[in-house]
Amino acid sequence: MKILVATDKPFAKVAVDGIRKEIEAADYELALLEKYSSKAELLEAVKDANALIIRSDVVDAEVLDAAGALKIVVRAGAGYDNVDLAAATAHNVCVMNTPGQNSNAVAELALGLMVMAVRNMYNGTSGTELKGKKLGIHAYGNVGRNVARIAKGFGMDIYAYDAFCPKEVMEADGVKVVDTVEELYAQCNVVSVHIPATPETKNSIHAALVNRMPRGGVLVNTARKEVINEAELIQLMETRTDLKYMTDIMPAAHDTFVAKFAGRYFATPKKMGAQTAEANINAGIAAARQIVGFFKEGCTKFKVN
Ligand code: 3PG
Repeated sequence: MKILVATDKPFAKVAVDGIRKEIEAADYELALLEKYSSKAELLEAVKDANALIIRSDVVDAEVLDAAGALKIVVRAGAGYDNVDLAAATAHNVCVMNTPGQNSNAVAELALGLMVMAVRNMYNGTSGTELKGKKLGIHAYGNVGRNVARIAKGFGMDIYAYDAFCPKEVMEADGVKVVDTVEELYAQCNVVSVHIPATPETKNSIHAALVNRMPRGGVLVNTARKEVINEAELIQLMETRTDLKYMTDIMPAAHDTFVAKFAGRYFATPKKMGAQTAEANINAGIAAARQIVGFFKEGCTKFKVN
């Protein structure tokens, strides 16, 4: 049984070592394709793979066509918008994610981006504090929950909106629940975005919504670039010169943001939220174990297609 780890953004070495241990303990073989420079390399590598561990690597119909022996793809992480689920199902390939395994890392980065924004990008000028400010958590999943936990330590006043999470779950964490997304943005000095990219959420964070934020509002995105209506955000930030946008997912219009919004915009060079040794170990080893469980016991927990 051949398990291919194909990660354009490689796991920390310690995580790869852990994955190898799991795979070899099951008497399977590990193959590694890291930092590949073309899709052709991936197409070649998947040819004889029975299982595939990926991160944000794109698995589309072409990859699935090339992977004749493939039975399972595990996205070591939360969002699986990079996998063509319909094509996977058509190819009889099981797709899983590893929910919760990297969420603390993403949440810590979200708070880091908040501090950076209110301290004026560490430019030496006098900033403000997060303590006492209203934080809006846009979607209360694994990352949102961790953001709430950490933000509590900062002394923030925490609000959340989630269309699916029961109110009681959020309230039990000491979070104030709002009934509409509009109310969340209208109330909060800082909004942290944690919605997945789906056809429904794409471009859903638009000018009319962000414009509800109070003066000096900070929008933090550690989710996906697709959920932001970039053109509208650019237009809005031109008139709302008090707003800041901090993102861990470089917008398609990054150069425009940089040129127009110096001191009010920051993007990490590569999505870094889950880029910690701990998150790599947690998500990578969970992926390896899920694959072993799938082959040895038929376990399909965390299947998403
Ligand atoms: C996720 O969906 O798990 C995060 O966005 C992390 O993605 P990454 O594995 O590409 O860093």
